[in-house]
Amino acid sequence: MRISLHGQVALVTGGSSGLGAAAASALAEAGAAVVINYHSHAEPAEKLAAQIVANGGRAIAVGADISQEDQVHNLFAQTLEHFGALDILLANSGLQKDAAITEMTLADWNTVLGTNLTGQFLCARSALRQFIAQGLRPDVSRAMGKIIHMSSVHQTIPWAGHANYAASKGGVDLLMRTIAQEVGELKIRVNSIAPGAIRTAINAEETEGSAEQKLLKLIPYGRVGDAEDVANAVVWLASDLSDYVHGTSLVIDGGMSLYPEFRGNG
Ligand code: BGC
Repeated sequence: MRISLHGQVALVTGGSSGLGAAAASALAEAGAAVVINYHSHAEPAEKLAAQIVANGGRAIAVGADISQEDQVHNLFAQTLEHFGALDILLANSGLQKDAAITEMTLADWNTVLGTNLTGQFLCARSALRQFIAQGLRPDVSRAMGKIIHMSSVHQTIPWAGHANYAASKGGVDLLMRTIAQEVGELKIRVNSIAPGAIRTAINAEETEGSAEQKLLKLIPYGRVGDAEDVANAVVWLASDLSDYVHGTSLVIDGGMSLYPEFRGNG
């Protein structure tokens, strides 16, 4: 069975690099028009949009700091202005500012929570308002809209030295499930993806060189993930092939969350 998102419009926050960029490409390949949001570096986002257009797709790059309400409003306004509708939100923007808890500054706490949790709330709220305003579009999807939150295995695995990040992802999990409970009756589907170690800039230190061997001990499946492993799941969750999947977090981690330390009898 082929997945098609033809006629649908997808917005990907943090779409200029890493998981967001891979997902934006995959969504475009499946036929969606894609809005690639970036925070500070326009060039990679514009390059990706141009690449998609050169391949016959539709894409634009739009700058916005998604932790800021007015910038989120503008991002959604530009999406509608260019493509006239919104069917899929991938709330993907996320960052890490790691520190021991005793050293963690309030500024770093607020920055991480602001983007990883408040930003996901602001984008989900705008997407929901748009889905409700435009109504069901039965020619393109069985659902009235789809939201995919980017979470992490650290929504459940505590992570020393990353209290702000783990707290934000734990928050994303309950945010996602609560919204799903609240809007399911409108035929809006809300899910999340919880990736483990995926090779991107956010974890280059852990996934490259000798550090990789240490990391692999935590991954029963024996390899670090690629951004495409996650992008494929994004396309599936955005499509009608997953029409009965709602309020679920899809863990994509090569088994990292299976307590791998217990291999060999604990
Ligand atoms: C983090 C990565 C980390 C992975 C597994 C992700 O959420 O962003 O830096 O490698 O979790 O620990």
